[in-house]
Amino acid sequence: MPKSLYIKTFGCQMNERDSEIIEQLLAQEGYIATAEPEGADVILINTCSIREKAEQKVFSLLGSLRTEKQRNPALLLGVTGCVAQQEGEQIRDRMPHVDLIVGTQQIYRLPEMLERLQQRVTSKEIATNMETSFTIPPFQKLLADAPPSPAPHGFKRFVTIMQGCDNFCSYCVVPGTRGREISRPLADILEEVEILVQHGVREVTLLGQNVNSYGTTNQVAEREVSFPHLLRRVAAIKGLQRLRFTTSHPKDLSTELMRCFAEIENLCPHFHLPVQSGSNAVLRRMNRKYTVESYLEKVARLKQYRPDIALATDIIVGFPGETEADFQATMDLLNRVRFHGSFSFKYSDRPHTRSADFAGKIPEEEKSRRLAMFQERQDQICWERNNEYIGKEVEIMVESGNHTEIKGRTPTNHIVHCTGVEEALTPGDLAIVLIDQAGKHSLRGRLKAQH
Ligand code: SAH
Ligand code: SF4
Ligand code: F3S
Repeated sequence: MPKSLYIKTFGCQMNERDSEIIEQLLAQEGYIATAEPEGADVILINTCSIREKAEQKVFSLLGSLRTEKQRNPALLLGVTGCVAQQEGEQIRDRMPHVDLIVGTQQIYRLPEMLERLQQRVTSKEIATNMETSFTIPPFQKLLADAPPSPAPHGFKRFVTIMQGCDNFCSYCVVPGTRGREISRPLADILEEVEILVQHGVREVTLLGQNVNSYGTTNQVAEREVSFPHLLRRVAAIKGLQRLRFTTSHPKDLSTELMRCFAEIENLCPHFHLPVQSGSNAVLRRMNRKYTVESYLEKVARLKQYRPDIALATDIIVGFPGETEADFQATMDLLNRVRFHGSFSFKYSDRPHTRSADFAGKIPEEEKSRRLAMFQERQDQICWERNNEYIGKEVEIMVESGNHTEIKGRTPTNHIVHCTGVEEALTPGDLAIVLIDQAGKHSLRGRLKAQH
């Protein structure tokens, strides 16, 4: 009898990628992934701890799964991801019905851990050790044996190039939950992308918390390999139509990387460059290691290399000690750069971070007011910027649709809804669309050509 597996994923692309890896690992053990938790033999919650709200969601979901566990005592319930890494044993104490707690660097041990639980060799499995070398097992082999599924986004994939983070921004749990920054050997990355492309993948996003510093940290086989070099090597793989990467730290954005945007044809002109705040005083307390001036100077140069680049960012409002003037400085920065998009968050105190002990905590209502102001202005900018596309032709890579209407993304990562389709297009196909309408979050147009 095949066993069924349900994974609920919270958090960032790292976790999404880890969930895929877990599915692939367990598929080799005969597990079939299901879309619903009811009736599953194994339920895994892949957790995020970046803000308090994210963690609360995890604990309320775990609480609600207690009845499922009572109904089906054979069910194995596990917690993976950043909350598992951070809270480890505390989860066991708080949620005794959880069978399995697996930290971010131990997921490849899941098959043996599940096996022990099923055979009743143990009644609880906890693994939260941190490794000193890159812990993703040789996935080339795994991928070759079990090629990526064609749906729903089989044509685009994430490829992990590094794990961990050494930046220690004062508010952030990631260095604690993901460990030290370790780059994955170039040859492994190239091999994985090659196999993906052979299996029909057309777009790859290189993934890491701070990809710009790829190769500068420990454990790289070829120490001279920089991120721009890696980009050029991956981009040259035949059949790869689009290349993206995320996330970048402004302090590590080099001229060499800017040049890549001018010179690498299949590198998409979309850049996520989190700034966090427009105030130098706040940036200093955040331990971000750049100034607003140096950020703006880099943005200006980046645009010289690639004028059509779409810039996105992350913002935290209400950091401890953020004055009204500091917040206005963030609004000024938004108005100067006019980001194509942003993710903005209310500051949240996290365990074991330095800023949790900082004075000058901002009241919740004030954080909400600042967030609403920021988001309102950003929405307006998105709308204005999207309107600039009206009358232009853009290329989209199809993500979904039917024989009359399709949805896809431009190289700048704009979502486009497109009508006038006559011949069925499949996900991963490219099409040219004439834009005739713009909203805050997407564009609309008519199909001009498909190729
Ligand atoms: N490595 C990336 C992303 C890290 S997490 C980077 O350095 O940009 C994604 C975003 O969550 C961060 O960019 C930040 O804006 C936000 N974030 C992280 N910790 C936070 C906290 N304690 N409170 C509110 N937002 C936070
Ligand atoms: Fe967190 Fe800063 Fe590392 Fe990003 S760079 S993951 S915000 S510590
Ligand atoms: Fe969340 Fe961990 Fe990612 S804390 S944002 S899942 S690295």
